Formats: sequence, C-alpha cells, structure tokens
Amino acid sequence: MPSVAELSQHVKVLHEILNYHNHRYYVLDDPEIPDNEYDKLFRQLEDIEKDYPELITLDSPTQRVGGKVLDNFEQVTHQMPMLSLSNAFSSEEIEEFLQRIDDLLEHNEFAIVAEPKLDGLAISLRYENGLLVQAATRGDGQTGENVTQNVRTIQSIPLRLRGLNYPKILEVRGEVFMPKKGFTKLNELQINKGDKAFANPRNAAAGCLRQLDSKIAASRPLDMFCYSIGVVEQTHPDEAIKDSHRQILKQLQSWGFAVSPEVKRLSSWQESIEYYDSILARRSELPYEIDGVVYKVDNIAQQGKAGFISRAPRWAIAHKFPAEEVMTRLLNIDVQVGRTGALTPVARLEPVFVAGVTVTNATLHNQDEIDRKDVRIADMVIVRRAGDVIPEVVKPVLSERPEQSIPYSMPDHCPICDSLAERINDEAKSRCTGGLYCPAQRKEAIKHFASRKAMDIDGLGDKLVEQLVDTELIHDISDLFHLNDIHLVSMERMGDKSAENLIKAIEKSKKTTLARFLYSLGIREVGEATALSLANYFKTLDLIKTSQSEVVQEVPDVGPVVGHNIETFFSQPHNEEVINKLIASGIHWPEIIAKESNELPLAGKVIVLTGSLSLLNRNEAKARLIELGAKVSGSVSKKTDLVIAGEKAGSKLKKAEEFNIEIMDEAGMMALFESN
Ligand code: IVH
Repeated sequence: MPSVAELSQHVKVLHEILNYHNHRYYVLDDPEIPDNEYDKLFRQLEDIEKDYPELITLDSPTQRVGGKVLDNFEQVTHQMPMLSLSNAFSSEEIEEFLQRIDDLLEHNEFAIVAEPKLDGLAISLRYENGLLVQAATRGDGQTGENVTQNVRTIQSIPLRLRGLNYPKILEVRGEVFMPKKGFTKLNELQINKGDKAFANPRNAAAGCLRQLDSKIAASRPLDMFCYSIGVVEQTHPDEAIKDSHRQILKQLQSWGFAVSPEVKRLSSWQESIEYYDSILARRSELPYEIDGVVYKVDNIAQQGKAGFISRAPRWAIAHKFPAEEVMTRLLNIDVQVGRTGALTPVARLEPVFVAGVTVTNATLHNQDEIDRKDVRIADMVIVRRAGDVIPEVVKPVLSERPEQSIPYSMPDHCPICDSLAERINDEAKSRCTGGLYCPAQRKEAIKHFASRKAMDIDGLGDKLVEQLVDTELIHDISDLFHLNDIHLVSMERMGDKSAENLIKAIEKSKKTTLARFLYSLGIREVGEATALSLANYFKTLDLIKTSQSEVVQEVPDVGPVVGHNIETFFSQPHNEEVINKLIASGIHWPEIIAKESNELPLAGKVIVLTGSLSLLNRNEAKARLIELGAKVSGSVSKKTDLVIAGEKAGSKLKKAEEFNIEIMDEAGMMALFESN
C-alpha cells in the first residue's frame, strides 16, 4: 500500500497530466491521446479522491463537475471597472476613429490589433497565486455577480495557471460563449424534454451562467476566449506584464487560456476594412457567433495616452456587423408545394433590411414549428438571417400582438391542386397526395430534372418551366424532348436565339450517365451520391428497375427507407411510362463495364477524407472513391493508405503526418478522378 504522502504526490502528477491533456483538447483543439485514455487517468484520480477526500483540492480536474446548489448569486465589486466599447457602423466611422487616435497620439506611429467581437458575456477571472478563486460577470461594469461555481465547469478555463512565472494576483477578462454546434444540440435536448428553446447562443450562455445548480452548467457546452487583463499584482520583475496588447494575449495563451485565432495586426485604414470584410464573409463558417470586429491600439503606453471617456476606452472601437435579427410585420402565411408534395409554410413579411439584404420571405418549416413558436398572421415577429442561411422567423413579439389574432393552421388540402394533404407516419410536413396530377409537384420535378447536377439543361430556368407547365405545353419531364422553337418563342422573354440555344441544350442533355439519369428522376432521398452508388452497383437501369427493396439495400449506404422508395418509384405505372418515353426520345448513357474489383485503380486501399471540400460534397467524393475500389474509413490509423485533406483539416491530418501516411489535397483527388 502506498503511503498518503506517496498518494498525494501521485495525485499531483495526475493533475499535471490531466491538465496538460485538457489544455490540448479544449484550448489548443489538438488532443494527443484518445478520449478513453484520458478517461482512464481521470478515473484513477477519482478513485483515489473517493478513498482520500482530504486529497481533493480546488484545482483538481475532478472539481469541474459542479457542486452545491446556490440560493442566489453574491454581488462582486470589480476592483478595476469592466469597460464597454463604443460602436461604429460604417467604414467612415472607423476612419474617424483612426484619425482621432492619430491626433491623441500627436501623430506618432501606432499599430492597431483587430479581433472578432464575440457575442457572449464578458467575464472577469481572478487568480491568486495561480489558482482560480473568483469569476464574475460584468454586470453594470462596476458590480457583477459571482458565478465562480459555473465558470469552473468550463473546460477551456484553467483552474490553475500553467507554467510558473505568473503574477501573484491576476485578473483575466474575456468572453464566455456557447459554440454554435453546442447551441443547436442543447436546443434539440430542450425541445425533446418539452422545455423552451433558447433564442440564440448568447441567451443560452447567459442562461447557463445564471444556473444556481452548477451541475446543469457543467452539462452545457460553454467556452471562453480571453481578450484583456484587469488587476495585476506582481511579485517578481520577471513577471512584468508586457507592453503590447498582442504580447499580453501571447502571455495569456502561455498561462493556458484560449485566445481568438483571428487576432491580427493592422497598419492602415485600408487593412482594417479588409479585415472587417473578410471576417464578415466568414461569419457563418465560424464555430461561434460574432457581431462585429474590435480594433484596439496595440501599445499599452499609447492606450494610456489615448485614455477613456465615460465607460469606454478611446483606444478601442467595435465595428459592428449589420444586425442579423430585426423586427417586422408578418403579413401572411403562404403554403408552397415541393417536388415531393411537401407543404411548406412561408412567411410573407413587410420588407425589412437584415444582415445586409432586404428580406420579404422567411421559412416557417412546418405546423409543429408554427405551434411551438405560436406565430400568427399580423404578428410583429423577430426575423433572423445569418450568413447564407434562409431567413427564419424566430418568434412573435407578444406585447404587440393584435387583439383578434387566432392560431394558424395549415390547410388540409393542397393550395395548388386541392388534393387532400396528409401527414404520413411521424413526418413533420404534410404532403399533397396529388402526385403528378399536382402542377406544383410537376413543376418542381421538371426543375429538378433540368438542374445542373441532373440532366444539366442550360437555359431552362425556373420561370420558363412554370410558364411551360401553366400553358400546358409540357406536362411531364418527357415532354421536354418534344419542344420545338415555335413553342418556345411564344414564351415571355424568349427570343429566337435563346429558343435555338435551349433546343440545342435539350438535345445535348440526351447524352448523359446512368447516375445522372437516376438522380434526375427525383426519387425521394436519392441524391447524387446514392444515384452514383446505385449505378455502379447495378450497372443497368433494367436491373435497378426490377430489384426489390432487399436487393437494393445491398448497395453501400442504402438503407430500408431508400430501398423502399426506389422499389415504390419503379413500381408505379406512370413512372414506367415516363421513363419509356424518355428512353424513346433518345436519352442514352455509356455502358458501365464491369471490372473485377481487384482490377480497380484503388482496389484494397484504405482512404480517409478530412477537412472541407469545395468542389464536391463529401458523400459524392466518397461514392467516387468507392467506385474506384477504395475502402473509405472515418478514422486514421496505421492501416490507412491515403488521407485526402480539404481546407481546415485538423487532427486527422496531423495524425496522418505523424504516421507518415500519404496525404493528398482536393486538387489531387480531382486529378485522380479525372485520370480514372
Ligand atoms: S475589449 C476595454 N474585445 O464587447 C474594452 N470586448 O461592447 C473591453 N467583447 O463588454 C472589452 N469581444 O463583452 C473586447 N474582442 C473583444 C470582445 C469584446 C466581445 C464584448 C465584451 C464587452 C463588450 C463591449
């Protein structure tokens, strides 16, 4: 049996090892050991602490799980006030800001540091002798709330500072936020439990920090980026706080904190505008919400010289992005009919400027969503548009609800063809049962058929398809091949030349591939990748048409639902008829020659795809690799032969480098496909 002294020593070593891996995982985003190895070490520590509670210390990695339930939050007076930032909304205001700094600094040179403005909550962390002793919210800047218990559960915040040369007292300031992914997951959980969803990640983060039971906070995915320091008391000259903002950020990183990876030094107004534009363009890709960028004078002495006015420094400014959430009137709810008959309610809005564009429509998804949000016609509503995402109605503003408003119900008949609309099984959407009788479904089916990744009929736009169906020149996809230029020139905005080009494009599209043809038929849930797998597996249309669901499910990645959809599609007489007409009008594809699997160029190779691809989607790339004989795996191991790394590849790429595995970029992959 080891003595208590020996155990205590062992506990210290475990703290160090666990903190090291915690930092690699949560701060550097670069784990070194698999999760189960970490868990083993963690359990070792827990076991010792269970038998020897006297060995539990405040900075033990086991102490992040939450503890006693509080009655309320204590008030904390900030020894050094927590400031806010002045806002700018245009590049002219940034020019004025820089001009002002130039005047304040008497035309001495100065550097600016830019960083994203995180949309979370400002927090001040107090460390005494390296140990986290207090975490407080900003509050009104003078007084905040003591949320230490909850903040201790945030894994990327060190409970003890790393290294040795830290000040005796150190306040670290930054933004606590909830990453977008964690927010989506949390809201799914909330809804499944029948609880209210949070409106946005910022509210969710605020809700977590305000939990009196820190066990709840511990279960929620919060993170923190640090951006400045508050009170500092040094004991040793070596610990001197550095003289520039960027150096301070580096120092914070060395003590174990996460700092935004987007921090950048700038030297001109021009560069600041470029920075703003580039971050705004990437806003929707970033894993956390931001609402602008912040510019700060880098040099600390120069910051001091520029000084403050009221509660904001004159040496910093926030350049805010256009609002992503605005308020407007919901004028009406229209119901759109999709290709497969799904009815989607669409909000018609009083035009409103949001995130840089004017929005007049927003999706309402389905009846359940409308009920959950209790959105009614004539309500004032909050509309959100983030990045390239389709605008969405977030919620009604109840205080502004008109008196006689009534809850909204989706129609029980198709608004286009008046067929019955049904909700089948547990589907969220109701569907028009009119099938190809319904002009709306036919229009969508034709648009899909002509689209780029399907038959790729150049010049056959949505508006034209609608006109052709409305004037009954075409009825289904097979009629496209009987159009002539006399038909076409009678359409609006169609000249002789365009008509001629379109006829040529229709003719050209007849030469296709089996995969494209299958995809273009618009079978439910048969996307490009599935269509490609089906074509490669069966090689002929006849085999696909006559195979039963069980056989179809032998194709990689095809499950029972898709199997059933395929079987059902081909068993419908009208589909058979349309396909026959298409083939009769000359649609053809090259024969797929069966190769023995060991003759394929990538036969037996284990390949891992990582990072984001820009030319193909991942499923498509995967299907093509499988087609060439490869086995596509999800994780890198010594058995991996090749790693294909797209943009922003992370740990899998690192691992491949470590194991000396061949690495290829997206261009290399495309060249491989090209040559095969
Ligand atoms: S610096 C002395 N940097 O914005 C300036 N603040 O409007 C102190 N914020 O309360 C703040 N990202 O919550 C700074 N990179 C960043 C920030 C940031 C977000 C928040 C912070 C502050 C508010 C001021």
